[in-house]
Amino acid sequence: MEAKKEVLRDEIARLKREKNALIMAHYYTRAEIQEIADFIGDSLALARKAAETDADIIVMCGVHFMGETAKILCPDKKVLVPDLAAGCSLADSCDPAEFEAFVREHPGYTVISYVNTSAAVKALTDIVVTSGNARKIVESLPADEKIIFGPDRNLGGYINTVTGRDMLLWPGACHVHDRFSLEKIQQMRSEHPGAKVLVHPECRRPLQLIADKVGSTAALLDFARNDDASEYIVVTESGILFEMRRACPEKTFLAAPAEESECQCNECDYMKLNTLGKVARALRDEQPEITVDTEIAARAIRPIERMLELSK
Ligand code: 13P
Ligand code: SF4
Repeated sequence: MEAKKEVLRDEIARLKREKNALIMAHYYTRAEIQEIADFIGDSLALARKAAETDADIIVMCGVHFMGETAKILCPDKKVLVPDLAAGCSLADSCDPAEFEAFVREHPGYTVISYVNTSAAVKALTDIVVTSGNARKIVESLPADEKIIFGPDRNLGGYINTVTGRDMLLWPGACHVHDRFSLEKIQQMRSEHPGAKVLVHPECRRPLQLIADKVGSTAALLDFARNDDASEYIVVTESGILFEMRRACPEKTFLAAPAEESECQCNECDYMKLNTLGKVARALRDEQPEITVDTEIAARAIRPIERMLELSK
């Protein structure tokens, strides 16, 4: 098994050099992917990196909307995703036609969409945000601005609370973050009294309320790096533990359990579709390639660029 992985790692390194390819990975991907990535980040960092790279090929090890965002920002580059089936339940909770009808019902509203959306939803949007910059971007708008926020109701509710705004929320959610169990995390806390609780804002409000830190994956990592506790309960997708342990080997990171303890509900099954074998195949075949309809891409790039501008 390890020997097979070594062969794949060598092949990936060779193809990457030959084809001037950049391998990007989200923190939720498998350890084997994060180990070989040229760049690992949260969705904001991945978008920023895609906008500035001079590679000819981007291999986006994440989920489909991350590949789409990279393609919209770099239309002349080849953007590959190791497995086209790597979708996102949150992006899927916002159907473009239904979202368009919702936007039409509310004329005069500024439309803010989380980056976890399809290109078609971004094309209906004024400003894209990530969990890493949503607060800053909302706060940059006039206090009386009427805002629609989609699709994550938990992140939107969190931003409403910390900014005092009253944004209209689309009722979407992520199947991983929406299912963490408050009861089980409280139980874990009582067994680890010194542990701090790190929570992604896609989790429900009761979990946000018990958090020592609410933040994007990069913000949670930063907090752990600079904080003085020795133990943390991590309430987000468990792939992040790989980078947390690498960054802070002296600290203990515990993955928060989801509702049903026997299932791996704290894992994003879409992110886990990225494997070494599929990365090697993608580089070899230059497939599967992300394509975005030209007219949709022309509309979707504006709110993404606005995000990059406002979050500088
Ligand atoms: P980040 O923006 O924190 O990377 O989160 C992306 C994501 O998919 C969370 O589920
Ligand atoms: Fe989408 Fe949730 Fe997976 Fe993030 S963890 S990519 S929001 S399904």
